[in-house]
Amino acid sequence: MLIRSAEFLKSSPTVAECPRDNLPEFAFIGRSNVGKSSLINALVNHKGLAKTSSTPGKTKLINHFIINSQWYLVDLPGYGYAKTSKGERNVFSRTILSYLAQRANLYCVFVLVDSRHRPQQSDLEFINWLGRNEIPIAIVLTKSDKLSAAQLEANLKDYGTVLLEEWSQLPPFFESSSKTGMGRDEILSYIEESMKE
Ligand code: GTP
Ligand code: MG
Repeated sequence: MLIRSAEFLKSSPTVAECPRDNLPEFAFIGRSNVGKSSLINALVNHKGLAKTSSTPGKTKLINHFIINSQWYLVDLPGYGYAKTSKGERNVFSRTILSYLAQRANLYCVFVLVDSRHRPQQSDLEFINWLGRNEIPIAIVLTKSDKLSAAQLEANLKDYGTVLLEEWSQLPPFFESSSKTGMGRDEILSYIEESMKE
């Protein structure tokens, strides 16, 4: 898919404040620092669009980017960031979980996991929660440039094995690197196909 334009639209503290025009929407979620904002920038080829940082907890609120004046990429805050206060964590959970559960124009949630780690409990719990709520997901293994092809393959297989304990059918998987552009074309094609259905 050709990206003709990508612009920041708004940051919303609650679901009620999110854009109401009902355009197709694709959201990115995962642990803090996993590379959500970087992946959004890589997809649209615009480095500074979504704010990134080597310090976890950079993205706050629900951030809408309008692409080709037709659909949204949504950058969400990360979960599992130890330095966030318990109060803030609860607000995060409530806001993000209600966003995910209520947003009717949400075509797919891309759940990002670090390709270097074995499946983590918090990721699995979250993925299973999405499944139980029948929210369409795809899983993206990020920072693939940091692993050999063989290691990446082994970790991908691990995820499949663990998920099949709960899921009767695996969701789509993508391997990505915001550094090399790996996975970019595949993810954009998937988005394009999803909008046709
Ligand atoms: P929060 O908003 O804090 O939850 O983080 P995030 O998930 O949006 O992560 P972000 O995109 O800000 O990236 C975190 C750090 O990882 C930054 O230092 C990035 O440069 C680095 N990073 C992100 N993606 C990649 C990647 O594909 N490869 C490598 N090598 N580094 C990456
Ligand atoms: Mg971010």
